[in-house]
Amino acid sequence: MIQAQAQLKFPSALAKNLRAKILSPSKDPLRATRDRFVWDLFYVPHQYHHWRSSLIEHWDGAEAAQALQALGNIARERFGCQNISQPWVSLYQDGHYQRLHTDPKHGPYAFVLSLTPRSASFLGGETAIAQESLVYGISDATKPFEHRNHFKRYHSRIGDLLVFDGALPHEVLPVTGTKGLEDARLSLHGWFTSPEVMMQGRATNKRLQKDLESYVQEFGSCLEEIGARSGYVCIEINRKRTAVLSSTLRSQNFSLLSEKRISACFPRQSIQGFGDWIRIPLQL
Ligand SMILES: [Fe+2]
Repeated sequence: MIQAQAQLKFPSALAKNLRAKILSPSKDPLRATRDRFVWDLFYVPHQYHHWRSSLIEHWDGAEAAQALQALGNIARERFGCQNISQPWVSLYQDGHYQRLHTDPKHGPYAFVLSLTPRSASFLGGETAIAQESLVYGISDATKPFEHRNHFKRYHSRIGDLLVFDGALPHEVLPVTGTKGLEDARLSLHGWFTSPEVMMQGRATNKRLQKDLESYVQEFGSCLEEIGARSGYVCIEINRKRTAVLSSTLRSQNFSLLSEKRISACFPRQSIQGFGDWIRIPLQL
């Protein structure tokens, strides 16, 4: 089961194609063409400072389509989300950063696909995500408070795909030591969106919709009973088993609910006749 933060591997050939596509208009620094000046400075004092572009919207051809398709497949298969948002491309040079913020309303999960080369030698640039203990006030006040104890830092390089609950405070630590495009911190990022019931194979049960509704209702009531207060869960039922695919569900004391606890809420009467598998997302 995937919980509030996970670093996955994205197909490296697709990541390399994306990087090449983004940087290709700037390959010759002396060539001034319209397609290379597409970056805007995202500067909000003490909050955001980096270059951002929506240039992917203007792409045609296989590189972007294949990469977005692969991201969509991960969103569907690993997280039960139907779509990805229109992604942004961000570039960080010396002194750039994003300070702590949350993105609670865009979708159940945020994603950051690193396109930074492995050879990049700048300092900083890690994505830091708050641990739940800090966010929900259950840290131990008798112990020293330091950033590294309460934030998980991800040192991502090309092909690393970070997926996390956007409701957790997160930031990009300041980058130092780069001026050019080639060795900058580069990423494609957005959100996994639109959770909805997905099914593969031919459904054989005409009452499926009704069965599904009662399943969700029973599952939801049981989650309430064990104190699930907020978050997201997606379960997958196939011919062999029922399992939690991903979850950011939090209990009354705001700690993440375990897979065992959630599994105990699966309705006793499993739904029938849904084909090969069915994925059922639920957001509280
Ligand atoms: Fe964010």
